[in-house]
Amino acid sequence: MATKVIIDTDPGIDDAMAILFAWLVPSIEIVGLTTIFGNVSVEHATENALRLVEMMGADIPVAMGARRPLVQDLREYPDYVHGKNGFGDVLLGKPTSKSLDISAADFIIEQIMNHPNEISLVAIGPLTNLALALKKEPAIKQNVKEVIFMGGAVTANGNVNPAAEANMISDPHAADIVVTSDWPVTMIGLDVSHQIVMTESYLKEVHNESSFAGSFLHDISGFYLDFHRQYGVDGIYTHDPSTIAYLMDPNLFSIEEGEVRVVTEGIACGKTIMNRDQNKYGKTDWSGIPKLKVCMGVNNVGILELYRKTFINSKDNV
Ligand code: RIB
Ligand code: CA
Repeated sequence: MATKVIIDTDPGIDDAMAILFAWLVPSIEIVGLTTIFGNVSVEHATENALRLVEMMGADIPVAMGARRPLVQDLREYPDYVHGKNGFGDVLLGKPTSKSLDISAADFIIEQIMNHPNEISLVAIGPLTNLALALKKEPAIKQNVKEVIFMGGAVTANGNVNPAAEANMISDPHAADIVVTSDWPVTMIGLDVSHQIVMTESYLKEVHNESSFAGSFLHDISGFYLDFHRQYGVDGIYTHDPSTIAYLMDPNLFSIEEGEVRVVTEGIACGKTIMNRDQNKYGKTDWSGIPKLKVCMGVNNVGILELYRKTFINSKDNV
């Protein structure tokens, strides 16, 4: 039976890679995309999600999510990373389709409650929609199959500042709600995504050799490559597609379990701090909350091969 997935996303170049990757995997059924602010505004994220669905020729509903974080002010969009339009400033036509009339949070609740223990919730942007859904319908905790999110960093430096990764700092209050709620969560942070680099030649081979999906991704990756090169990375970090690889084969990752908190103020706002030593303390802010699965190691060659094979094999069937 196919794995039913909702992808909560702020497309975004690596988001587009993750969404197309999931779409090309026969054993994954994307039941919907829910959008969030982050790389771009939620309006733009919704337009980009609709564009991707139209490009895929797929029947996948898109539900627009939160415009701003739960508590803190909206941060500036990182157009220097993904371009002003979120797709590397490649000129694209307006989508002709429309998003659903219900919110992302309501779509998440509706799908999880109508399909108990069937929906995998994959979040690759700020976690505001997930926090809103949890607040509105706490029973999704017992009815979701699993939650996988890209975000945070346990031992690695952040990518916004030494403490914080982008998805976490964009809404730290929402992230702390998600990681302290009692539901099955796996965190895929910079500890692993910074170990997975797609070089320009790899991107060319995978994306040019595959179906239309590949050439679109090749076109929008140029901007993203230039950004990474400024920081001495000869390629792009594979953040969001790592969640789909985990869904397909968790054995590609080594996992630790522990309680995680997200700092919500001060210079380390957005920092994810994991209790990795279970016996050292008395009562702390990590006491009494559930443990997450946190990916700390990864078979980066295996992930790159899985991604490559999926796109290359798609050449004949889309
Ligand atoms: O830190 C990387 C994450 O922030 C990715 O999800 C990327 O798309 C941005 O949203
Ligand atoms: Ca993202």
